[in-house]
Amino acid sequence: MPDFLRLAEDIAREAGDMLLAKRPTMSTAVETKSSPTDVVTTLDTASEELIRERILAARPGDRILGEEGGEEPGESDVRWIVDPIDGTVNFLYGLPDWAVSIAVEVGGRIVAGVVNVPQRGEVYTAALGEGAWLGAERLRCNTGVPLAQALVSTGFGYSATRRAVQGQVVAEVLPRVRDIRRGGSCAVDMCGQAAGRVDAYYERGVNQWDFAAAGLVATEAGARLGGLQGRPVSPSFALCAAPGLFEELHDLLVSLDPERD
Ligand code: IPD
Ligand code: CA
Ligand code: CA
Ligand code: CA
Repeated sequence: MPDFLRLAEDIAREAGDMLLAKRPTMSTAVETKSSPTDVVTTLDTASEELIRERILAARPGDRILGEEGGEEPGESDVRWIVDPIDGTVNFLYGLPDWAVSIAVEVGGRIVAGVVNVPQRGEVYTAALGEGAWLGAERLRCNTGVPLAQALVSTGFGYSATRRAVQGQVVAEVLPRVRDIRRGGSCAVDMCGQAAGRVDAYYERGVNQWDFAAAGLVATEAGARLGGLQGRPVSPSFALCAAPGLFEELHDLLVSLDPERD
């Protein structure tokens, strides 16, 4: 198999360097998308353009799905799944948890994933069946943590109605766990779970470009990743935690009907 991971990492590092060099200023154009809280900057678009150019220069004919540019059609069974900035709101405010996320899917399976967190100088990588790393450090998620002692990260979507439901759900989860974190980037949250910085992560309404790369980092670090009631991870629901905690948190979440909006 071609060295997808190395190519994805090179491209994610180049995009991250560009974003760090051109950090948003007062003159950076900011537009809204699905709601007033859903923002996109010219740097999201510039990052995705750079990533698309580099992928197609190295692998003409591959398909690409990106948050800002949509789906690039093609015949290839190789598809690149790209979030040019995951955590745009953090990026805008100068907060460090934003990432360039690039995953490679072959025949419908994610085989390589890179999450570059430039402002922290951290690059997470994973290859299917070969493990997950933060730089040179092999990752293993926390195991044996009961729900009552679990540090759980989550996030909120951009629609006001969905947020209202997510607020109700998190209000029920909070008294049953150690604490809640809302980092502001799905990819960084999931990699944080892989690295043991939190014990579990869940969110309703994240997209493939948010979790494709980080999901592989989490599973290669020993996490279970899925949706609710036996369904695979999808935009409907994403949950990752070590086996045991996964089931405990899953059952609590199901009882709260978090997909009801
Ligand atoms: C968002 C972030 C955020 C999550 C949202 C995502 P974006 O991605 O991952 O943490 O809560 O659901 O849409 O828009 O910053 O790429
Ligand atoms: Ca976005
Ligand atoms: Ca995202
Ligand atoms: Ca994004």
